[in-house]
Order: sequence, then C-alpha cells, then structure tokens
Amino acid sequence: MSPNSAALRPIHLDDRRSGGGGILADVMEGLARCPKSISSKYFYDARGSDLFERICEQPEYYPTRVELEIMRGNIAAIAEALGPNVRLVEYGSGSGLKTRLLLRQLEMPVAYVPVEISRAALAESVAALGREFPDIEMLPVCADFTSPIMLPRAARAPRQTVVYFPGSTLGNFAPDDALRLLRQMRVEAGQGGGMLGGGVLIGTDLVKDRVPLEAAYNDSAGVTAEFTLNLLVRLNRELHADFDLAGFRHRARYNSLAGRIETQIISNREQDVHVDGHAFHFAAGEAMQVELSCKYTLDGFARLAARAGLQVAEVWTDPASQFSVQWLTCT
Ligand code: AVJ
Repeated sequence: MSPNSAALRPIHLDDRRSGGGGILADVMEGLARCPKSISSKYFYDARGSDLFERICEQPEYYPTRVELEIMRGNIAAIAEALGPNVRLVEYGSGSGLKTRLLLRQLEMPVAYVPVEISRAALAESVAALGREFPDIEMLPVCADFTSPIMLPRAARAPRQTVVYFPGSTLGNFAPDDALRLLRQMRVEAGQGGGMLGGGVLIGTDLVKDRVPLEAAYNDSAGVTAEFTLNLLVRLNRELHADFDLAGFRHRARYNSLAGRIETQIISNREQDVHVDGHAFHFAAGEAMQVELSCKYTLDGFARLAARAGLQVAEVWTDPASQFSVQWLTCT
C-alpha cells in the first residue's frame, strides 16, 4: 500500500515561530548592534529562494555544481553507507535535486521529512517528490530548523534516521551555532527511531584560494548582489521599513584568517532608515553583516563533528578538493 495513496491525507505543515520573537524583534535587535547585523536566514522569502536557485546556475558559483558531481559520482557508495529503510530528515530542503538522486538510490527508504522555512519552496519540492516516490511517506515540516523542533515519526519503523544537510548550509552559522546545530542533528539521528544510532550526511565547502571563493560570491551577472539586497526589499515590505535600495550595495570578501566569506550590506552614504517607527543611523561606508559562509579543512571539520558526538565515517570529494560530502555516524 502506498503511504501517499490517500491523496487527501493532510500534509503536516507546521508554522512554529522562529527562535526569538520573529523577524521584527530579530531585525530591531540586529540594527541596534554594533556592528549592525541581520541573520542570513531572512534571505529566504519566495524571491530570495528563487534568486538562490539562480545563484546556483552562475558559472562562478561552484559549490552546487561540484556537490552534485560528487553525489552523482558516488551515489552507490553513499546509498550503501546509509543502508536500507532509512527515515531521511532534510534541513533546508531547497529545490530537492540532490535529494531526488538520494531517494532514487536508497534501498526502500521509509519516510522523507523535509524541514524548510520557505513555505513555497517546501510545497513545490514535496509535491514533485511525492509524485515521483509514492511509496515514501512524505512528512514536510514548515519551520526554522535552527530552533529545536519535534519532527514527525514515520508510520513504518525505520532502520535508522539519517539527517541530510547538503549545500554547505552549516557554513552559514558561526562556529558556536554550527556546533549547536550539529548536536541537534545528532539527537535527531539518534532518537528518530530505528535500531541503529543513525547519522548525518552533510555537504561542506572546503578552504581554498581567495580568487575562486570571492568570484563565487560576486558573480559577474550580479545575481548574488541582488540576492543580498533582496533582504532590504523584504524588510521594506514586511516590516514597513524605508531602506532606499540605491543607497546600499552588496560586498562579499574572504576572511582568510577565519576561513570564511563575509557578506555585508554597505551604506553608500550617510542616511537614516526607519523600521517600526524607530530611526537607525548609517554612516557613509558603514557595513552591516548579513551572511557568513564558513569554509572547512577536512581536519577542522572532523574536530567540529567530534565535539558534537559525530564521527567522520566516509568523505567523498571532487578531484580538485573543492567540496566534500561526508557521512558522520553517532559516537
Ligand atoms: C546557502 C550555504 C548554500 O553560503 O554558499 C550563496 C548561500 N549566499 N551565495 C552559501 C549563498 C550567497 C549559500 N548556501
């Protein structure tokens, strides 16, 4: 019997609020800070998610392309490492291209639990995957995966839970938050049901020369700049803010000491911006921090994983070692 055959079965679409007081409280707090900062999770409204998909098509943006190559080239070994009857949880499911590869190759997966903040992106990907995989129970959750959430159990007992976290999204978190998130994934993998301890399949971008890194975050078509500045468009619309789009620009630079791309929104001139009746002053040239994209060495990542109770069991990489896909098991 197909778990999705009852077409009218209501999809579990949760709407829990993000960690703190939501976008308004987060933005007010971030604008009051010095330096100003806003979390990159607010990039992903419907337009932001679309722009991110377009970034992935830019010739300079290697991570998506290389990760997909690694997945394609090693999919049999990856599926074998994960084993049969998996309950697959995915954080930040996005377009689901890599997920499709994985679900095709896995041996009788029991359930797919995508956790995605963008309702539009979630609905779209789950509709398509549900059609292609009628025998896999689809349990979509619309939520911010950075706040601890109770995820739905599968109707059929899994052999183990695997948390899939592709795209080097972990890199968007500062080290402390990345550690917290890995620990949360470890708990989910360990308690998700099944007789084994479970594990985490994660895509991580690797440290490399400044030139290809900075090119990847400053594509010549300007899609990344549009993606960054869309944050201001969103704040104007949702928080009735009055950011002048011509008054700000995108900047992404590699901090080689910290091993990360730091993306900022720069004020082109001295100006005041209003959000929810409060004025915020920007000096000319002032930088507001909006995104980190941390890059890892294989050793550095193994140490981080170990602190979260995860052991690197296998690493797949491309010939030029630009990116890695890693299988972490619970210790
Ligand atoms: C969401 C982690 C895949 O940091 O590389 C791409 C987001 N930002 N270009 C990244 C992003 C600017 C991206 N990931």
